[in-house]
Amino acid sequence: MNAIPIAVLASGRGSNFEAILKSIQKKNLQAKILALISDQPDAQVLQIAKAASIPAFAVASPASKEQQEEEILKILKPLQAHFIVLAGYMRILSPTFLAPFLSPRGYFRVTNIHPSLLPAFPGKNAYAQAFALGCKVTGVSVHLLDEKVDHGPICAQEAFSISDLITVQEVEARGLDLEHRLYPNTLNWILQEKFSLEKREGRTCVRQD
Ligand code: GRF
Repeated sequence: MNAIPIAVLASGRGSNFEAILKSIQKKNLQAKILALISDQPDAQVLQIAKAASIPAFAVASPASKEQQEEEILKILKPLQAHFIVLAGYMRILSPTFLAPFLSPRGYFRVTNIHPSLLPAFPGKNAYAQAFALGCKVTGVSVHLLDEKVDHGPICAQEAFSISDLITVQEVEARGLDLEHRLYPNTLNWILQEKFSLEKREGRTCVRQD
């Protein structure tokens, strides 16, 4: 199986980036990380990439979001990554940014992990939102991006119980454990494009072939 060239975008701590990296090192995930790009110059994720000898770029917020996206695209263009993997990237990507990653089968080759059972709790602090509302169960979603926020065809979802947990930190810890397993496992077949998109009564469904 070929290692698929990817670029990872991340904004912070980088635990998902690290999980992807480890999964590649253990040969559980057939991918090669060409670059790590962060919008935050102080992000811990940059250090994790450097320690693993992965080219790491910080593209700090310049005058406008358009300018920042242009900068990132300039870095990405010569790399020829087959997929862009978002791992805790906290900015919304514009349709202009996504356009070059449109596959011939009509989806963007851009993936994301979101800490909720989408479409519940899009946006920031999803674990905290579920906890504050008194949910008994929450979960994690891996999806392909579309032009809307925390939206797009869902590839994998897993739920976990939080009814026994006392603090939001415990919810986050349980969720992150799951994220670190679910994202690399799901990327394994997404990157190989072993799926089809099906329209079912208006919703788009990702089906693993
Ligand atoms: C994770 O909870 C991820 O699902 C969300 O942002 C967080 C990033 O954590 N999108 P990390 O930087 O990967 O540790």
